[in-house]
Amino acid sequence: MNTTEAISTFVEFFERRGHRAIEGSSLVPPPGDPVLFTTSGMHPLTPYLLGRPHPLGRRLTGVQRCLRTTDLAEVGDRTHLTAFQMLGTWSLGDYDGPQSQQFGLELLCDHFGLRPELLYATAFGGNTEVGPDTTAAETWTSLGLPVELLGAEHNWWSNGPAGPCGPDSEIFVWIGAGPPEGSPGTDERWLELWNHVTLRYERHADGSLAPLSQQSVDTGMGLERLLMVATGASSVFETDALASWLSALPAVWPLRDERDGPAALRVVTDHLRSSVVVIGDGVRPSNTGRGYVLRRLLRRVLTELWRGDPGSPLTLADLPPELVRDTADRFGQVTEPAAVRSVLLVEERRYRQLLTRGQSLLARLYPSGSLTEADYRYLHETHGLPRELVCDVLGRMRAG
Ligand code: SER
Repeated sequence: MNTTEAISTFVEFFERRGHRAIEGSSLVPPPGDPVLFTTSGMHPLTPYLLGRPHPLGRRLTGVQRCLRTTDLAEVGDRTHLTAFQMLGTWSLGDYDGPQSQQFGLELLCDHFGLRPELLYATAFGGNTEVGPDTTAAETWTSLGLPVELLGAEHNWWSNGPAGPCGPDSEIFVWIGAGPPEGSPGTDERWLELWNHVTLRYERHADGSLAPLSQQSVDTGMGLERLLMVATGASSVFETDALASWLSALPAVWPLRDERDGPAALRVVTDHLRSSVVVIGDGVRPSNTGRGYVLRRLLRRVLTELWRGDPGSPLTLADLPPELVRDTADRFGQVTEPAAVRSVLLVEERRYRQLLTRGQSLLARLYPSGSLTEADYRYLHETHGLPRELVCDVLGRMRAG
């Protein structure tokens, strides 16, 4: 099963159950939205989840490109990506959570071939504001899945400090080598796959929680993770969604996929692929907001490639344009590879200059290589050298 087949299997399953397919939106939320990037499928649907009637009705499905910077430290493992696609379904005041759970399990087992004995569910265990979601838990039990009740840090969904929110019930799949052990809360080899959120509340800006007059269901499943478990791939990087990057990049840059250590090839793949998608939605590198996220992604790539050496001959000019085109197609964007290339090269040149300047400045001012907090602040404020860059240069000075 490849990306196209997975998307059509998902969307057609829900279309047969009365859902209408919606187009995905940009990664850049509309003006006024406090969040930098679209982080979930429900994000562009917020007004409809708060009660506005959707022109396509009460049952929707679709694929949304998302970007999450909360998992950056995890990228390089088997399952985390910065930019990814989320398969989603929405019941806007129509069917309830248990119906959504039943659809979910049926689709995973009967159409994607997942084995029920490798699945585990979690449900909201309650907190001081809202009681446990016993309905969700009992539904999983009646559907034959083991269920674990977890606290709000795992099983309460909100898309920001204010807006629609509610208890979340999640389907996990076992990706360990042997038979399943433990539970999602106790063993990391349970992979979070598909979240089913019952949006019953709205959080107001003052922190108060009010029931919504229309209760909705929002579900989201990472496409790349689904491909991984449905095809038996050992990581998201081995699925067709990313495999072309992994085979093409080592031919242009000396990167290895060190499975048990820092996975430079995976990090470069993830960050460059994410950068292509972010650039495709019109963001350009800068020192604030979205542009700064993009700048940091690209600098991490260049750090992996150059290891702090601004004289390195490795250059983003060698990024194969087919990867840019393929990524844009997959994320539903129209992007000209030459335009991406020129953004990458301007940023690369800028970073080379900064690194060169940083190197001579640090060697002159701090030959011992030890800096205080005040030194970092001075270098940033007076010389425009951000902390990450200073750390890169120091790392190289120490290694050299
Ligand atoms: N909003 C939930 C999530 O992103 C379900 O779609 O996980």
